[in-house]
Order: sequence, then structure tokens, then C-alpha cells
Amino acid sequence: MNPEKLNTESYPSDKIARKFLVLAISYLLLGLLLGIIGGFQYILPPFLKDNVSFQKTRPLHVYLVLTWIFTAAQAGLYYYLPRIVNRPVYWLRGVWLHFFLQLSVSLVIIICFFLGYFGGREYLEFPPLIGAFILLGWVPFAINFFFTLKPNYKTAPVYIWSWSTGILFFFITLSESYLWLIGHFNNNVVRDVTVQWKALGSMVGSWNMLVYGTAMYVMEKISGDVKLFRSPLAFFFYFLGLTNLMFNWGHHTYIVPAAPWVKTVAYIISMTELLILGHIIWNWRKSLAAAKRNYHSIPYRLLSFGDVWIFLNLILAIAISVPAWNFYTHGTHITVAHAMGATIGINTMLLFASVFYMIQKENPDATENRKRMVGTGIIITNIALLVFWISLLGSGVAKIISKQNNEPFYTLMQKSQSWFKLFTYSGVIVFIGLFILIASVLLIIRARRRPT
Ligand code: HEM
Repeated sequence: MNPEKLNTESYPSDKIARKFLVLAISYLLLGLLLGIIGGFQYILPPFLKDNVSFQKTRPLHVYLVLTWIFTAAQAGLYYYLPRIVNRPVYWLRGVWLHFFLQLSVSLVIIICFFLGYFGGREYLEFPPLIGAFILLGWVPFAINFFFTLKPNYKTAPVYIWSWSTGILFFFITLSESYLWLIGHFNNNVVRDVTVQWKALGSMVGSWNMLVYGTAMYVMEKISGDVKLFRSPLAFFFYFLGLTNLMFNWGHHTYIVPAAPWVKTVAYIISMTELLILGHIIWNWRKSLAAAKRNYHSIPYRLLSFGDVWIFLNLILAIAISVPAWNFYTHGTHITVAHAMGATIGINTMLLFASVFYMIQKENPDATENRKRMVGTGIIITNIALLVFWISLLGSGVAKIISKQNNEPFYTLMQKSQSWFKLFTYSGVIVFIGLFILIASVLLIIRARRRPT
């Protein structure tokens, strides 16, 4: 019997978990639309300039797609938690409270961006006060996580450690990212830049912990191998990941005058992170006794594509973390390729694996009926993403060469045009691929569940 097809239990929180899922998908859809507008503004600067200028589309796009990542992970957790402990979530009303806080905060942020109220910093450019409400929304989530699971960390699998760390560090890093509001920090440029990048770099680690934990849970369920994520090796890699979360932000601060050894340590640590997940997935694949049987499984396929992106991004991350190379790549589209390659290729693929795992458990027949559609969406997204990623690398290299030749900005822009066009057009195809996945999810959720 295929363990993925079992749907023997349902819990009161499943309904709200589905709502979180739809909310996550809505963030993604809206975020993608803004990404497309931003892309067209690259090649056609006057495009929608009066209503949504690039100064608005970029931060809104980034906010929405990052919120997709957090919310999709949260939707998964609300669905998985009761199944892990075989009891309902601790505080059901808290889940609803979280949902309404999250929805209201997002609406306020979107309105602020459209009205031109900024005031925040990179990735969190909305007015700083809103940050406090984001944090507030996470309180019921954290309560439900810890009180539902009541984890015994001596015996807990590594994904529970991963989730716990992700939640804890979200509180720490979001608070840290607002330290610039205090004079002691913003009066000193070096301290300010260092703390800011430390906070944001570690925040990336915090969402990675949530996403990787989710992917590991799904892997365990698909393979049925409960020993995999309880092994000493899995924990060794977890602690290496934790070191990364705490210290790998260093490579963001190469431009800040600091002692050379800091750069060396940051560099060495930066190298390990993607290797960790690559190793875990690789191991998992080897451990699948019935790999062929699972080949046609949608979550398996998405995890495998995530695996490919881990290796591609690993190569890029190694390159741009070399201090001498970082000097050239910093501030070019190579950094954007690194950010989007990781958030689309790795995070989004792994999260869709979790999304399809959830809805497949709920609606196995409807998922089976949409398999071909989903397969098409996965292929389109990944092929287009490769072109998209290469176009960003290409425009980054064009900028480096142009800078070396001391060419004026106008010449650089002219030379970059073909890369920008490739970026925008392939971005539209990435959108089409992801839209097919989004539409499939919504259609499967909507389909009436047949009795199992
Ligand atoms: C799941 C889908 C996506 C995710 C997770 C994502 C994520 C991101 C992130 C994290 C950044 C910030 C990059 C940085 O800090 O350097 C970014 C920037 C951007 N993205 Fe996306 N993105 C997605 C899809 C798209 C698509 C389909 C387009 C269409 C062309 C697009 C267009 C842009 C643009 C124009 C920027 C601004 C780049 C700049 O700073 O010049 N994105 N995206």
C-alpha cells in the first residue's frame, strides 16, 4: 500500500490549515504578478510607472514571495502537528487568531506600499511599527507548536529540532532587524550595517529551518523510514545548519571593514549550508527501498527538482562567498540570481512538495486526476527557471565586465538589454509554470472529496 494515499484521520485544525494554504498560495500569486510587473519595468521603464513604480513593485514582490514561504510552512505545520502527536492542536482559537492577524497585517502592508508609506529597511520596507504586529501574529503559532508537540528533544527527530529553531530564531532575528531604530546602532555605520545583515542573514536561516524541517517530514512520510531523521549523522548536519544560521551572515558584510579572519570564518561556514541539505536529500533518496514506486509521486518529483537546485545554488554560493570574487559580484544581478535561485528553486519546490503531500492525503482521487497538469507545471517552471537564473547571471557578468572597462552607465544598460529581455520573458514562463501549480492546488482543494 502506498503510504501517501492513506487518509485515516482528520482534525479540527485541518480546515484552518487549508485556509493558511490558500492564503499562502494567494501571496505567491500576487507576488508573482508584481514580479512580472517589475520585470517589464526593466525593459520598459515607463510601464505602469505612475501607479506602481519599481520602487513599489520590488519591495512588495519581495514581501509577498517571502510571506508565501513562511505561510506555506505554517500551513504544513498546522496540518502535520496533530498527526505527529495524534491529538488536536493545543489552542484551536489561537490558529484562527494567527490567521486573522496575518491577513490583516498583510492587507495593511499592501495598502501602505500602494500609498507609498515606506520607512523600513531591505526586505521589510513597510513602516517599522508593523513589524511588532508580525511578531504578535507568531505568538499563537509558537504557543501551538510547543504546546501541541510538547517535544521531548532527547528522542525527537531532527525535523522537530529544525522547526523549533526556525520559530525561535524568527523571533530573535525579526527583533534584531529593528535594532536600527535605536540610536546606539544607527549612529555608527559599521555597527548598523553589520547588525542589519546579521539579522537578515539569520532570518533566511530561520525560514530555511522551517522549510527544510517540512521537507524532511514529508520525506519521512513518503519513505516510511523513521530512523532516517533520528540518526547521529542527521543531527550532525542539523548542528552544522544551526552554525550557519548563526554565523553565515558574515559573507554579507565583506564590504564592511572588519578583521580578515572574520571573512575567512564567514566564508568557510557559508560553504556548508546547502551541502547539508543536499546530503540529507541524497541520503534519503538512497534509502528509498522502493524508489521506482515513488517516482511518479508528485511530492517526490518536486523534492528531486529541489535537489537539483540545491546543487546549482551550491556552486553559485561557493563562488560568491570567495571574498575576492564577492568584491566583484556584490551589487550585481548575480546576487539576485542567488536569492531567487534559492527562494524559487529550493524553497518553493520543497514547499510545493509539502502542499501536494497535504492535498493528496486529503483528496487522493482529485490529485490523481490532476497529475498530468501538475507534471506540466513542474517541468515548465523548472526549465524556465533555469533560463531566468542564467539571464540574471549573464547581466551580472555584463556589469562586472563593463565596470572593469570603466564604461558609462548608458553603455552598460544597452549591453544588458538582451539579458533583461531574456529575464523578463523567461520570468513570464516561470509565472505560467507556477500558475499551473497554483491552479492545480486550488482545483484539487475544491474538488469534492470522495469517500476513501
Ligand atoms: C516563487 C517565485 C519568486 C520568488 C520566491 C522570488 C524572490 C525574489 C527575491 C528574494 C528577490 C530579492 C532579490 C535580492 O535581494 O537581491 C526578488 C527580486 C525580484 N524579482 Fe523575484 N521571485 C519570484 C518570482 C519572480 C518572477 C516570476 C519575476 C518576473 C520577472 C520576478 C522578478 C523580480 C524582480 C524584477 C526583482 C527585483 C530585482 C532587482 O532588485 O533589480 N520574480 N525576487
